[in-house]
Amino acid sequence: MKMMSSLQLWLPLLLIISLTFESPVAGQQHSMDMSAHSNWEPTPKPLIPGLPKRVRCLLPFFPPCFNLWHSCPVDCSNNCFMDCVSCKPVCSCNMPGAVCQDPRFVGGDGVTFYFHGRKDQDFCLVSDTNLHINGHFIGKRNPKLTRDFTWVQSIGILFDDHKLLVGAKRTSTWDDSEEHVFIFFDNTPLSIEGKNWIYRNSSLQISRTSPTNGIAIEVENSFRITATVVPISAEESRVHGYNITDDDCFAHLDLGFRFFNLGDEVDGVLGQTYRRNYESKIKVSANMPVMGDKPKYLTSDIFATDCPVSRFVSRNAIPVLDSGERF
Ligand SMILES: *[C@@H]1O[C@H](CO)[C@@H](O)[C@H](O)[C@H]1NC(C)=O
Ligand SMILES: *[C@@H]1O[C@H](CO)[C@@H](O)[C@H](O)[C@H]1NC(C)=O
Repeated sequence: MKMMSSLQLWLPLLLIISLTFESPVAGQQHSMDMSAHSNWEPTPKPLIPGLPKRVRCLLPFFPPCFNLWHSCPVDCSNNCFMDCVSCKPVCSCNMPGAVCQDPRFVGGDGVTFYFHGRKDQDFCLVSDTNLHINGHFIGKRNPKLTRDFTWVQSIGILFDDHKLLVGAKRTSTWDDSEEHVFIFFDNTPLSIEGKNWIYRNSSLQISRTSPTNGIAIEVENSFRITATVVPISAEESRVHGYNITDDDCFAHLDLGFRFFNLGDEVDGVLGQTYRRNYESKIKVSANMPVMGDKPKYLTSDIFATDCPVSRFVSRNAIPVLDSGERF
């Protein structure tokens, strides 16, 4: 049985709205009883405590909601968008296609799960014949658990004959007015400058979703990815026992994926959940549903397509004969 998020029904609409404007509200304090959260619940994320972002509906055909500002919910004070239909701000990380925090995935089927991977390694998130996305995981060894605390630091995207790398710069202390996004297109760094920065190159378009630290990447008829760089706050570190120290705030990506043209054989940690016949093996009833089978998704480099589940066929593929000889 698949669990469908009701949000999925109007996802196309929500997409149009995702370009809602954001601005911080000064002087509003949210106090949270953090002790009520167990270690494994989605991380409440007040990046700058007291400054939730504000969003509004920019679609004029929703008159009761149009243009009214709303503050992001406490659980996602920096990463929400306005849903014009319900006229409520919605946490971006709760949408199908979200990969956020200590990576918590919401599959294409609406089912939420964790995939921890391993720190300092790369994993195949999506693998289809003409699209392949790897994630580079950073993290901390957790002395009390058999796994690492991990976050997705960068993604490597292969499409057509192109290579796109998007990531979070390592930083000690967080300043939201500083740019922490880095981008390489076909091995060339792009300089992200100005509030209205936009980059277009054939079917690729990259634009800002906020003045700093937020971008949207679109490839026509293929995908739209939003990437927001966020740090681990001292409060999160304390609540979850991450033991984040002053030399590195583990800036990482919160991601939202939308695909327009996936094949039925698509695979990868996230990709497989978009298959029409996908049956989730995740125990949804578990307190913290975890996707196992790490070796199936492990890949040797941010642009490598050698994970066992790989489906990617490079246009420049060199045919391999039965003998293993290459031509
Ligand atoms: C577009 O990308 C190619 C690499 O794929 C690069 O050589 C070219 O300079 C880019 N064009 C622009 C306008 O950035
Ligand atoms: C926290 O990290 C520091 C430096 O990495 C280490 O020396 C210390 O033992 C860690 N503390 C805990 C409780 O893991």
